[in-house]
Amino acid sequence: MTPHETYSALLHSDAPLLALAPMQDVTTLQFMCVIDRYGGPEIYWTEYFRIHGDSRPEKWILDSITKNPTGKPVIAQMIGNDIPALVRNAKLLQQFPVAAIDLNLGCPAPIVYRKCAGGGLLREPQRIDAILGALRDAVTIPFTVKTRIGFESPQEFDLLLPIFAKHKIDLLTVHARTVLQMYRPGVRYDLIAHAAKELNCPVLANGNVFSASQAKQLLAETGARGLMIGRGAIRNPWLFDQIRTELRGEKTKLPTGRDVLNYIHELWDNEISPGVKESAQVQRIKKFTNFIGEGIGVKFLHDIRRVATAADFWRVCEEHLNHDARMPLEPKSDALAVPAANQ
Ligand SMILES: Cc1cc2nc3c(=O)[nH]c(=O)nc-3n(C[C@H](O)[C@H](O)[C@H](O)COP(=O)(O)O)c2cc1C
Repeated sequence: MTPHETYSALLHSDAPLLALAPMQDVTTLQFMCVIDRYGGPEIYWTEYFRIHGDSRPEKWILDSITKNPTGKPVIAQMIGNDIPALVRNAKLLQQFPVAAIDLNLGCPAPIVYRKCAGGGLLREPQRIDAILGALRDAVTIPFTVKTRIGFESPQEFDLLLPIFAKHKIDLLTVHARTVLQMYRPGVRYDLIAHAAKELNCPVLANGNVFSASQAKQLLAETGARGLMIGRGAIRNPWLFDQIRTELRGEKTKLPTGRDVLNYIHELWDNEISPGVKESAQVQRIKKFTNFIGEGIGVKFLHDIRRVATAADFWRVCEEHLNHDARMPLEPKSDALAVPAANQ
């Protein structure tokens, strides 16, 4: 089966579709391999390919497509606003083993939205209309969109939905916040339900999914075809399996502190390139522990953010995680760890 045949079979099955959210600098080939060993989602997204004038798909992002050993489909995401460049890259990317081509309409990083790309495009619905028209004509495999609900106000969502419908996109992922809201509380799940009702295409619900029971409730409440999960999956790689277990009506099992410690070891072994300066290795692993720490506690986060050596890093991890107590790994506060430059 080709990746888009696998993807289409997933969409035609009864089970909700669980996806790992695209995350720049996180959803690398290595991370996909780690998360898949914990059960993983049914489908992956690449982080975005930056598309402009004469850009070519970045090699390290292509690796997550061409070297993907998980057997699960991957969707290639693009960000940009230059129509000829988007069309040229979409045609190029669809020759790789991808399930679909996705357009990013959500990135809230000022450096991106000020150039009217990602979430910045939500201020210009007519431009979105033109881009989707051109991409719909060019893409011969499924074509999907990942959006926020507006740039400034959720009321903008009503103007966007008819554009998505007009171009017959194959799937819409809705991160139910506005661009200016960044990651602040107040995810509008009601607008995901609205999109799922209004559109003919499947809709994935995205934003703050953190536990199996909440995921089950969200699927029922929104009528979404599935869930896309980002930070919740970094924090808790067992989450996808926990959700599948919950949906079967069985009791989910929580990991112990030591299981979490082993997960961090696995990330280190897969994400850290030997020979790189120790301080750079510690910085790299902190990209993950900043998120994982949200599910461990404020003291862990405080301590881990201050370490500079590998020895100190492991000392803090051991101190907090070398135990057999079960851990829900749900965020301890809504102040989730999102670097300002990220989405
Ligand atoms: C570190 C980081 C990088 C991200 N990079 C991307 C990206 O490349 N493309 C994209 O569409 N969204 C990106 N996002 C947004 C996520 O895909 C997702 O929409 C958002 O985190 C909300 O989902 P969550 O609450 O499950 O994390 C990123 C988020 C984070 C935290």
